[in-house]
Amino acid sequence: MANESEVLSQSNLEFEAPASIAEHAHINAVNYEKLYQESIANPEEFWSKIATEEIHWFKKWDKVLEWNYPQYKWFSGGLLNITYNCLDRHVENGKANTTAYIYTNEEGKEERISYLELLEKVNRFANALKGMGVVKGDRVTIYMPLTIEQIVAILACARIGAIHSVVYAGFSAAALRLRIEDAQSKVVVCSAYTKRRGKILPLKSVVDEAVDGLVYVEKIIIHQREQKFELVEKEVDYYDFIYHQSTHLEAEPMEAETPLYILYTSGTTGKPKGVLHTVGGYNVYTHYTTKIAFDLKPDDIFWCTADTGWVTGHSYIVYGPLSNGLTSVIFEGAPDFPDPGIWWSLIEKYRVTKFYTAPTAVRLFMKMGEKWPNQYDLSSLKILGSVGEPINPEAWLWYYKYIGREKCAIIDTWWQTETGGHMVLSLPACKQKPGKAGRPFFGIELDVVNKQGESLGPNTVGLLVIKKPWPSALRTCYGEPERFEKYWNEMPGFYFAGDLATKDEDGFIMILGRADDVLNVSGHRIGTAEVESALVSSNSVAEAAVIGKPHEVKGQSIKAFIILRQGVMSSENLIQTIKHHVRNELGAIGVPDEIEIVNSLPKTRSGKIMRRVLKAKELGTDIGDVSTLED
Ligand code: WTA
Repeated sequence: MANESEVLSQSNLEFEAPASIAEHAHINAVNYEKLYQESIANPEEFWSKIATEEIHWFKKWDKVLEWNYPQYKWFSGGLLNITYNCLDRHVENGKANTTAYIYTNEEGKEERISYLELLEKVNRFANALKGMGVVKGDRVTIYMPLTIEQIVAILACARIGAIHSVVYAGFSAAALRLRIEDAQSKVVVCSAYTKRRGKILPLKSVVDEAVDGLVYVEKIIIHQREQKFELVEKEVDYYDFIYHQSTHLEAEPMEAETPLYILYTSGTTGKPKGVLHTVGGYNVYTHYTTKIAFDLKPDDIFWCTADTGWVTGHSYIVYGPLSNGLTSVIFEGAPDFPDPGIWWSLIEKYRVTKFYTAPTAVRLFMKMGEKWPNQYDLSSLKILGSVGEPINPEAWLWYYKYIGREKCAIIDTWWQTETGGHMVLSLPACKQKPGKAGRPFFGIELDVVNKQGESLGPNTVGLLVIKKPWPSALRTCYGEPERFEKYWNEMPGFYFAGDLATKDEDGFIMILGRADDVLNVSGHRIGTAEVESALVSSNSVAEAAVIGKPHEVKGQSIKAFIILRQGVMSSENLIQTIKHHVRNELGAIGVPDEIEIVNSLPKTRSGKIMRRVLKAKELGTDIGDVSTLED
């Protein structure tokens, strides 16, 4: 991330929304103001109306919001099934043959699945899960690349109330094991492998290592693809598992606060937290944000380039798009293989209208040059979304010019695993300010405050807080309620997002990055403490401190300072061994770009490492107050 004054000085650009979008948008600049005020004045009435209009309920709720600080419930007493909203209702409403997903990969393979076919496949999987004794509340870990089979497994869990825990298929065996153990999963669903840049990346062998000795894992369901393993003990082939099952299964009505999924995300301690979302509020909120942010129209072709291993995939590949009956493109592969034109060729081929990606990808394409997108017809595009990290004005402008061809709306969307859906965004029919995430979504009352929780004036850097619960807010951290409470206790009365921000005279929020020890590398969240504990678990590292450094493409890169254990000699080979160790502990996303061996680390008198000092020294900026420094 650029330094604060640099960022602030770049932020005066403004663009009017494209007239073609503004004219027919669900929400335009005028009704945004009005509806926003109404939604804040009476959020319960607002959400009650949306939930009634947009979502099917078997039984209406008793109360829209129950708030016993810090706990909250939305739509309690209401009965729904999120998969009914995502599948059955479209099938019943004349969309049985509408394509839900167009899957494609780097070899150009293509598979289409309609809403009816998806429903039937989900039912078969759900029936098979039921048949083996999986019941509501049981946990199922899913370790698969972005495929139709993965989405079927996700929805099958949701259909019967099993809690899915999707683990990004780039995490290592140790990281996967930690997540399976934490959730005590009864079932693990995996793929044999994924392919990236022409190379096979085995996944089944990672699972073998991760589940070794875990007696409570009763079954491992393997999507074998082109490989055929000799299956042992608990293992079963994905298609054998569902083969004899009925394509019919009534959608069971579930209470709105029934858990839907756990998704592990990084915090400030070494152990990731299992953010838990529940069905009712999450369905309402992801449905409505998808519809409004992307200004959905009947013929839209949507493509969110995220991976289903992260929250963006959960909310804006699976639940939000399906609940709206959208057709989505999903692509299993890297953005630059077979060549850096692959994404643009897919947009041309499938006539994608709404596209959603991360700034790190935009910067990667910027670096490779506009000659790649220029080869393709991108005229179908209307709205271009951004998520995961601040989009710097240069990247915004490039995206606007070379992908949007100066006729698309760019929507930045700020949110978190914990928030379930968009919190701050630039709506496509409203004014856009490159580099600023935009304004709060309906019902979201937020502020930028100082450490005492006092509201700050315009353009002053402070902490971003949200003042009231919203429907898709996390309900707890699985098995660790105290970590959930921390979100609401850090800054009493508010939800503490952990991000630094400013708010301008028009109420536009600019996000400046994390206020805590969480890094954002290529839009992926990773805790400094997670990397540090992976480092010190190597037998050559005594102590470690990790910082994020600004990086042209990735946003941030990871730099580690380590103190070697006594008797360990430094060498280039040693650094490679340590990197390899971190890869085994965490997966590729946690591996430091740089490791520097030092003799001591700056610490406070109470022994806390002052990463801030290391960072200032590394970047040549002001070290600030070091009165608590021990040495
Ligand atoms: C950052 C990803 C600036 C932020 C959806 C947040 C952003 C963290 C943006 C959550 C954005 C996400 N502008 N920063 N548009 N979107 N972030 O949980 O620091 O993986 O707290 O959720 O990413 O990351 P997470």
